[in-house]
Amino acid sequence: MHQQPKNLAHVDAAVPRPDIIARAADVLRGGGLVAFPTETVYGLGAHALESAAVRKIFAAKERPDWDPLIVHVSGVAMARSLAKTIPPHFERLANIFWPGPLTLIVEKADHVPDEVTARRSTIGLRVPRHPVAAALLGAAQVPIAAPSANRFGRPSPTRAEHVLDDLGERVDLILDAGPTLLGVESTVLDLTQSPPAILRPGGASREQLVAVLGAVTLAGGVAEEVAAKGLAAPGMTLKHYAPRARVELIQGAVDEMTTALKNRVEQLEREGKTFQVLATYGDNEQYARTLFAQMRDADSRNIDVILCIMPPPDGIGFAVRDRLLRAAGIGSQP
Ligand code: TXA
Ligand code: MG
Repeated sequence: MHQQPKNLAHVDAAVPRPDIIARAADVLRGGGLVAFPTETVYGLGAHALESAAVRKIFAAKERPDWDPLIVHVSGVAMARSLAKTIPPHFERLANIFWPGPLTLIVEKADHVPDEVTARRSTIGLRVPRHPVAAALLGAAQVPIAAPSANRFGRPSPTRAEHVLDDLGERVDLILDAGPTLLGVESTVLDLTQSPPAILRPGGASREQLVAVLGAVTLAGGVAEEVAAKGLAAPGMTLKHYAPRARVELIQGAVDEMTTALKNRVEQLEREGKTFQVLATYGDNEQYARTLFAQMRDADSRNIDVILCIMPPPDGIGFAVRDRLLRAAGIGSQP
């Protein structure tokens, strides 16, 4: 039997117990690491204004020092306190999308430590929607820097078990509130560009953003920028969210995909390879919610190949396509 790990605490997803939240807030304020659920994926949190605490995140995740962190805030007021200037659209987007899966990139205030933003002049901010994350921010009363709580390059964690598998005792406390709702990360929107640019598709859809902003562009994120400058190997930047199994994408019109899948399955069977099929089955939300868990599951069963039917690009399907392309090492959209 598995022993309950000492650093794991169960907490109700809807009504988290105040004493557990208070304990987690103490760990954060004391410079420790707390993994907690958000509506997208689990985050690995540290006090965002303490350099030493933030450095622990990079060490635990084995994250390269060029990749900036998202800072989680309790509301618009705390967000403003970390921004140097408030760009156009900020107020309106915050009012509509927060709390929720939209990260806004703005110029950072001088007192934000360089470690948080990987020495960039900008900062990514978001107000998470999950009751546990909201309670933690309310109790800690400090901004919480938190990337996804996975080992760098691995699929993001949508369950506390995934955090334990990747990070184990490197985390002081893991708040387990069960599986997350959306399953893919927040949309990262750069408001320092005009029109604003989606650096990473995610839980807030392109259609929703276009409805508010009129126009958005799509741009490569930090990883693409770093790769273009030759500062990191392409394997570190293009191949992300990746399981150990080989990820193969099946694209095209529906009947083409059906034929391609059938042919590939027959071929793999002849070769004696094991495989798993990921598909939308008419429900993009479900595809998103289970995507990363299925990749991890394939690895735990030592599957050779994951065959992924590309979902249509509407709604959260756009983010799913992006993660599949990255998992296959092809890079991102467009
Ligand atoms: O849903 C989410 O966003 C989750 C939960 C925990 O909030 N967090 C998350 O963080 O996915 P992370 O670190 O795994 O991904 C953050 C992304 C990275 O691709 C990073 O490059 C980008 O946001 N990012 C953060 N700050 C940035 C900045 N100042 N400029 C450009 N990109 C930034
Ligand atoms: Mg991540």
